[in-house]
Amino acid sequence: MKLCHVLTFLGAFLTSFVLGGRGGLVSSLLGEVSSVLGHLLVDNCYQTSCPQAQEIVREITWSHTSKNPALAAKLLRMHFHDCFVRGCDGSILLNSTADNTAEKDAIPNLSLAGFDVIDEIKRKLESECEKTVSCADILALAARDAVSYQFGKSMWDVKTGRKDGKISRDTEALANLPSPLSSFSTLKQGFSSKGLSVRDLVVLSGGHTIGIGHCNLFSNRLYNFTGKGDQDPSLNSTYASFLKTKCPNLAATSQVDMDPGSAQNFDPHYFVGLKQNSGMFQSDAALLTDAEARQYVDLLVDPKVFNAEFAKSMLNMGAILTGNAGEIRRDCRVVNS
Ligand code: HEM
Ligand SMILES: *[C@@H]1O[C@H](CO)[C@@H](O)[C@H](O)[C@H]1NC(C)=O
Ligand SMILES: *[C@@H]1O[C@H](CO)[C@@H](O)[C@H](O)[C@H]1NC(C)=O
Ligand SMILES: *[C@@H]1O[C@H](CO)[C@@H](O)[C@H](O)[C@H]1NC(C)=O
Ligand SMILES: *[C@@H]1O[C@H](CO)[C@@H](O)[C@H](O)[C@H]1NC(C)=O
Repeated sequence: MKLCHVLTFLGAFLTSFVLGGRGGLVSSLLGEVSSVLGHLLVDNCYQTSCPQAQEIVREITWSHTSKNPALAAKLLRMHFHDCFVRGCDGSILLNSTADNTAEKDAIPNLSLAGFDVIDEIKRKLESECEKTVSCADILALAARDAVSYQFGKSMWDVKTGRKDGKISRDTEALANLPSPLSSFSTLKQGFSSKGLSVRDLVVLSGGHTIGIGHCNLFSNRLYNFTGKGDQDPSLNSTYASFLKTKCPNLAATSQVDMDPGSAQNFDPHYFVGLKQNSGMFQSDAALLTDAEARQYVDLLVDPKVFNAEFAKSMLNMGAILTGNAGEIRRDCRVVNS
C-alpha cells in the first residue's frame, strides 16, 4: 500500500471509531471528521508510485479538449456528480449490471459524457503503472485539466489518494444530486450535508459559466411557472424572450448555452448574467434570494476573486469522502473481480 492509501485506510478506521464510540457527539464531530478525512488526500499521492501520472492525465485530456471544447463542462459536471454521491469515489463511472442500475443511468445523468476519455486515460495508466491510480483521482484531475486547457496552465490544485468505491446506485444519485428546481434552502441543506458552505454553493454554481442546459429543465419558467401559463417573474424578460426562441414550447428538449456569449469561457460571466436576473435554472436564480449568497455573487464577478475562490471550493468538493475502504479499479466501469 502506498503511503497516502495507508492514510486513507486509517481515516476510515478513525471514522468508524469516532462515529461508533461516541454516538451522542456524532453531529458535532461530523464536521471535524470530514475535515480530517479531507486532509488524508495528499498533494501528489503518485509521486513515487507513478510519477508520470498527472502528466498522462493532462496530455490525454488536453488532446481531447482541443478537438472538443465542450468536454470541459462534461468532465467538470461528472466530477461534481461523482463527489455528491458516496463522495468522490469514481462511483459515477461504474456501468449498470444485470442486478444493479448504476448512478450514470439515473435521470440526472442526462447529457453526462466523456466516459471514453476517462477510459483512455485509465488504459494508458494501467499500461504504465498497473493498479496504482484510482479512477476517482483520474476524474478529479481530468476535470481540472479539461477546464484549464484554455488557460494553458492548471487553474486549481487537485489532491490525490482517493479510492474507488464498489457501489453505484441510481436511487442515490436521485436522492443526492440537487434538482434545477431547488429553492435556496434546499440547495443550502444539500451542500451542507456534504460539508460544503453557502460560499462553496455560490462559488461552485459558477461552474455554470460553461456548458449547456436542456430546455425541459427550465421551460416551466418560460411557459407555465405557477400552472397558469405564466412566466417566472424573477426572470429577466429580455433573456426570457431569447430562451423562448431556443425553446419554442414546454416540451422542447433542445440544448441551450448556459452563459450565452461566453459559453465556453471559464470566466465569471455567469455571475454577471445572474445579477441581471439571467440565470438559466431556478437553482441559479435562487442564489439571489438569500442575503449572504448575494454578497458572494457580487464579489465573484471579479475574475481574480472567481479564480481564487473556485480553486478553494474545488478542493473542498474534491475532499468529500465516505471513508469507506475502496480499491484501485483496473477498469473504471467495473469493480475488480
Ligand atoms: C447548485 C446545484 C446545481 C444544480 C441544481 C445543477 C443543475 C444542473 C443542470 C440541471 C444542468 C443541465 C444538464 C443538462 O441539461 O444536460 C447542469 C449543467 C452543468 N453543471 Fe450544474 N448544477 C449544480 C451545481 C453544479 C456544480 C457544483 C458544478 C461544478 C462545479 C456544476 C457544473 C455543471 C456544468 C459544467 C454543466 C454543463 C454540462 C454540459 O455542458 O453538459 N453544476 N447543472
Ligand atoms: C459499459 O457500458 C457502455 C455503454 O453502455 C459499453 O459501451 C461498455 O462496453 C460497458 N463496459 C463494460 C466494461 O461493461
Ligand atoms: C442515462 O440513463 C438512461 C436510462 O435512465 C440510459 O438510457 C442512458 O444511456 C444513460 N446515459 C449515460 C450517458 O449513461
Ligand atoms: C400548466 O400547468 C398546469 C398545472 O400544473 C397544468 O394543468 C397544465 O396542463 C400546464 N400547461 C401545459 C401547456 O402543459
Ligand atoms: C436584463 O438583461 C439585460 C441584458 O440582456 C440587462 O441590460 C438588463 O439590465 C436586465 N434587466 C434586469 C431587470 O435585470
